[in-house]
Amino acid sequence: MTTTANAAICRGHDHPFTIEPVELAELAPDEILVRIVACGICHTDLAVRDAQLPVPLPVVLGHEGAGIVEAVGSGVTSAKPGDRVVMSFNSCGHCPSCDVDAPTYCYNFFPHNWSGSRADGTPTMHHNGAPMAANFFGQSAFATKAIAHERNTIVLPERFNSIPLDMIAPIGCGLMTGAGAVLNAMQVREGLPIAVFGAGTVGMAAIMAAKIAGSSPIIAVDVNDDRLALAKELGATHAFNAKDDAIGQIKALVPQGLGYAFDTTGINKVIEDAWGLLAPKGICGIVGASDPADNLTFNEAAFMGGGRTVMGILGGNSDGAPFLIELLDHHVAGNFPFDRLIRHFDFHEINEAIEASEAGHVVKPVLRMAAE
Ligand SMILES: NC(=O)c1ccc[n+]([C@@H]2O[C@H](COP(=O)([O-])OP(=O)(O)OC[C@H]3O[C@@H](n4cnc5c(N)ncnc54)[C@H](O)[C@@H]3O)[C@@H](O)[C@H]2O)c1
Ligand SMILES: [Zn+2]
Ligand SMILES: [Zn+2]
Repeated sequence: MTTTANAAICRGHDHPFTIEPVELAELAPDEILVRIVACGICHTDLAVRDAQLPVPLPVVLGHEGAGIVEAVGSGVTSAKPGDRVVMSFNSCGHCPSCDVDAPTYCYNFFPHNWSGSRADGTPTMHHNGAPMAANFFGQSAFATKAIAHERNTIVLPERFNSIPLDMIAPIGCGLMTGAGAVLNAMQVREGLPIAVFGAGTVGMAAIMAAKIAGSSPIIAVDVNDDRLALAKELGATHAFNAKDDAIGQIKALVPQGLGYAFDTTGINKVIEDAWGLLAPKGICGIVGASDPADNLTFNEAAFMGGGRTVMGILGGNSDGAPFLIELLDHHVAGNFPFDRLIRHFDFHEINEAIEASEAGHVVKPVLRMAAE
């Protein structure tokens, strides 16, 4: 039996999202039907809207969903109806990366997250009787109901019952990416300096995680003074506006160079400048969506001579449930106060929420589809 839902359809940059009725397919054995309570909006949703990523349009986006399980496919053992869940990216479970618990680098990432259909090519959604691209990051959670998979659905332990799902929703992408880049990928060492370029969701999560790791100093760089002020409240010891010679100010503050430079802007020049600030053995971590035609240039002698690293990082090297639960434990302990980044909007205000995010007024907009 098919299930009906309302979903926000994205038709590209020049069109507002419109909420329209859709039909969800019957569940495959590994799939989970989730009644969506809330979903964060991430810059990556907008990169798809703007055709910067190879996802077919029109499409139902949304990849920071949280909700309640309504039904499970015949093979699902880890979730049951009524469970509180949060969703993240999807992966195949049987490739050289998945085999070593590195699912963000799944060899089959594209078909499982970005193809618009299931990995086997079958649609999970229909609109007016025709297939609609969905299964975005294995969820498409800008909707009142979504089909997710056992591999990307995390059942929340009861100790998190006091955290509302409309707070937990964004943990599965931007927050995990910034925190995981610091804690898992770059493995930031206590006492070493870090500079974070771009203080959006990803950068703020990195700053909070750098504080957990004991990095010092923690330098935030952005063009938005309000975000820089918030970054200081969340753990940055210094905050520089990129328009005020931030590079020169960092050089003066840490003349020996940075242990870590973390770029979330995806801007070529920012990354190259950040790389130029690294101390020997320094790591430049890169996560921002960039123009597919962009190439980076680094000095070869400095690259080799100082043992420096340029590290592309996807999804904060998260291994799924264990890392998300670790982050929620940090939150409960008061060390990862990501609630400070969130502003809620009703589902039907999706276009206003995107506008507020793009204008820099809101760091992490979260849409509310329904009450828990
Ligand atoms: N690799 C991954 O796994 C992954 C996961 C999530 C998001 N992303 C990408 O990471 C990037 C950041 O995501 P976000 O949600 O934090 O976005 P965001 O737009 O909220 O944050 C980017 C920040 O960069 C700032 N900025 C712009 N120009 C700047 C400059 N010249 N110098 C310094 N700061 C500047 C902006 O003011 C903004 O605060 C996006 O490109 C997103 O697509 C990647
Ligand atoms: Zn895989
Ligand atoms: Zn995202």
